Amino acid sequence: MSLPSIDPTTTQAWKKLTRHFEEVRCLNVPDLFQEDPERAKKMGLQWQSVYVDISKNRITQETLSLLYELAEEVGLKDAIDAQFTGKQINKTEQRAVLHTALRDFETMNPMVSATLHQMKQFSQAVISGAWKGYTGKPITDIVNIGIGGSTLGPEMVTEALTFYKNHLNVQFLSNVDGDHIAEILKTVDRETTLFIVVSKSFTTHETLVNAHTVRRWFLEQAPPETIEKHFVAVSTNLEAVQAFGIAKENTFPLWDWVGGRFSVWSAVGLSVCCAIGYTHFKALLQGAHDMDKHFRNTDFEKNIPVTLALLSIWYNNFFGTETEAVIPYSQYLTKLVPYLQQAVMESNGKGVDRNGNPVTYQTGTIVWGTTGTNAQHAFFQLLHQGTKLIPVDLIVFSESLHGDTEHQNILMANCLAQSEALMQGTLGSEVENSFKRFEGNKPNTTLLLEKLTPNSLGRLMALYEHKLFVQGVIWNIFSYDQWGVELGKKLANNTLKAIRQEKDTVIDNPSTQQLLKKLQNR
Ligand code: F6P
Repeated sequence: MSLPSIDPTTTQAWKKLTRHFEEVRCLNVPDLFQEDPERAKKMGLQWQSVYVDISKNRITQETLSLLYELAEEVGLKDAIDAQFTGKQINKTEQRAVLHTALRDFETMNPMVSATLHQMKQFSQAVISGAWKGYTGKPITDIVNIGIGGSTLGPEMVTEALTFYKNHLNVQFLSNVDGDHIAEILKTVDRETTLFIVVSKSFTTHETLVNAHTVRRWFLEQAPPETIEKHFVAVSTNLEAVQAFGIAKENTFPLWDWVGGRFSVWSAVGLSVCCAIGYTHFKALLQGAHDMDKHFRNTDFEKNIPVTLALLSIWYNNFFGTETEAVIPYSQYLTKLVPYLQQAVMESNGKGVDRNGNPVTYQTGTIVWGTTGTNAQHAFFQLLHQGTKLIPVDLIVFSESLHGDTEHQNILMANCLAQSEALMQGTLGSEVENSFKRFEGNKPNTTLLLEKLTPNSLGRLMALYEHKLFVQGVIWNIFSYDQWGVELGKKLANNTLKAIRQEKDTVIDNPSTQQLLKKLQNR
């Protein structure tokens, strides 16, 4: 079974939502709190240690009911089952979408457990120093070479779980920028560095160019037969890996049913596994699996990813908002937003529906943001007093990791105060003039987690994965392909030939022709 193809705007629920929107669009949420002292309680979703407060959104109970009705009407329940049971829901690539199977320890596929075992053995050997470089020294540095999903997940998780890290210094080389390579290579020693080349396809130009450059650098001093001690790969394309010169036994498999932006749970997470050790890596997977169960088995009304997806649709398709901000109040989560940007925007940045027709409504939201409190001193001005309506997710942990309660109190206070200020504004209170007035009524959702652990991070990541899937189902688009990145790749090849002034290269575009002239005349 593939996903049904229902234009959401033709559903009864959508029509009701359209009428309902006209009634509630001017609602002032602070008034709703006044009218219903139980609002915060009623609009809080608790699942285990995760608490999500949606009460500061521009919704009523009726809005929520209609949104849940929409989810029912487009067949969300069946779509969720289709995904978890491995149906080919990625129709344009004829693939199942089973990143959830990578973390399902209850019914684990033997290929997945064998790979996890391989990762465990390997990471233990590297961490313990049993794995030696070509001069007999233990590994001190790891460089992950990959781009997109082959770096964003691993890099974000490695940074987020710094507290749990061991002695290995792990860096990420993604951009095909020679200066970045030079900067990284400056910091490492050939004798003690392990390079993990991660590419699902093993055809991605940037990754292959970088891997070849690094290999040349390595061979400037090391003998060729020692490559196997310093280069390992993660890929579905075993032939290409071998052609690159990486031994079969140093190759970690991946499968076509794991999308790049959902692949950190697979061997793509090898650098994470080395950085934090297998036990913590497994806890990350377990956390995601916990969220998978919540998502799959919980009624929509209590289902966190479903509810957050529907809220996002409410703003995107009825209020006409274009972006949403994500503000984690933890410096460890500095790279969460870039990771989410790929997950959300590569998945739902689609303008054609599941029948292949142009959509007549808005799809994929733009995700942006950075950590609080830094964000408050950068762009919160616009959130509070600008002309745009931007729903905000505020993510906060109730405990710090190093135990500095005072700092954690300040951090939490800022998060809660911002959430309140966005919604409450200054209306009704004394302000000297209009410049100092905050309108308020700015929608925001607070996600409260206990502590940043591998498990809670896994939960958080899986929450956003499921949220984007639900949105894709409702928007009637295919979330799991990414044809939109192909054209750029092709054009870059031709432009490169032109830059190298290779014979018979034709550049048609006058602007590109002009830019090339300017570049070449320098
Ligand atoms: O940007 C396009 C893309 O295909 C992503 O989806 C993917 O994560 C990235 O390129 C890297 O692909 P690969 O792992 O095959 O090198």
